[in-house]
Amino acid sequence: QELQMNLEQIEKGGYDHFMLKEIYEQPSVITDTYRGRLHANEGIIQMSGVEDNLEKFLNAERIIIVACGTSWHAGLVAEYIFEEFTRIPVEVEYASEFRYRNPIINRKDVVIAISQSGETADTMAAIKLAKEKGAFVYGVCNVVGSSISRETHAGSHTHAGPEIGVASTKAFTTQITVLIMMALRLAKAKGTLSKTDFHRYLQELEIIPEKVKEALETDAKAKEIAAIFKNTQNCLYLGRGYNFPVALEGALKLKEISYIHAEGYPAAEMKHGPIALIDEHMPVIVIAPKQGHYDKIVSNIQEIKSRSGIIIAVVTKGDTQVRGLADYIIEIPETSDALSPLITTIPLQLLSYHIAVMRGCNVDQPRNLAKSVTVE
Ligand code: G6P
Repeated sequence: QELQMNLEQIEKGGYDHFMLKEIYEQPSVITDTYRGRLHANEGIIQMSGVEDNLEKFLNAERIIIVACGTSWHAGLVAEYIFEEFTRIPVEVEYASEFRYRNPIINRKDVVIAISQSGETADTMAAIKLAKEKGAFVYGVCNVVGSSISRETHAGSHTHAGPEIGVASTKAFTTQITVLIMMALRLAKAKGTLSKTDFHRYLQELEIIPEKVKEALETDAKAKEIAAIFKNTQNCLYLGRGYNFPVALEGALKLKEISYIHAEGYPAAEMKHGPIALIDEHMPVIVIAPKQGHYDKIVSNIQEIKSRSGIIIAVVTKGDTQVRGLADYIIEIPETSDALSPLITTIPLQLLSYHIAVMRGCNVDQPRNLAKSVTVE
């Protein structure tokens, strides 16, 4: 028993929980994920799975992304990135919905399956269905040799290392890293990004781990805010564009480990429903970086303010406008809009973590949840 405890302590590397350790590993595992693939100075992205199947990607009339849970959120981020960078239409599907509705799939469709474990039953079934219909299926998995890695025609692994915490953190950011690199590689081949933009993104991606490190410095602030809101019953997360999926992921993290009801919404949709929920008891977490639809987000914040909602805003360092409106602010380093999910997601992970710890929840093994869902 004692030996077991010690072993676990060692595995946690000085952190109280695996989840926290995994949150803190993100700068290094993002680097591991792009190492050997991203050559920023040479202007090269080298991914053998993409290289070997370049024609298939270039001829793709559509990309369909299938996944579940957090991996599905990474898929949504990828939708924004692929469409912007490559101009290939993208659809993102819950694997479980896709497989049960006789989906329209053509030979010219490329299906990308995203899975940390590589064992999720619904994602596996969606892959088999897509293959039967003649599509080319590409895997983005974390576990080498997993069922999904083996079942897909080709793929790129994320190099997040073992993820023990049930709530996914480092798998999410490394999935986004792989998907950004794929989109950039294809954009280069298709000529859909200007040379300047292409090079700028490569340079930016290379320094992203440094910025993630900086974003981890929001830990103390996240903890402070967690102490104030740990007893809330509801929480709303808002974001736009690339950060809409981050809002969904932020809400999912909070639900999973703290059992607080949370919803993620595209900020502009708030007026079509959730705004009715806003009063002085409703904390609203707004992702409002300077890049992106900043002015629109500011007016969303004003709408919440005028209904006495409590605003916790994630903003770019040095922001003054939102600071004047929000009740609490969390400052993160600046990045381009497309890469911002890798940064904005960090304080949200930390916020959920601290709230869950303060509520006495089992952070690494939340009730009713499993790390990989191998049943349908
Ligand atoms: C479970 C896990 C989630 C994960 C989802 C998909 O629900 O608790 O963290 O996002 O499965 O798992 P996968 O391994 O396919 O990414």
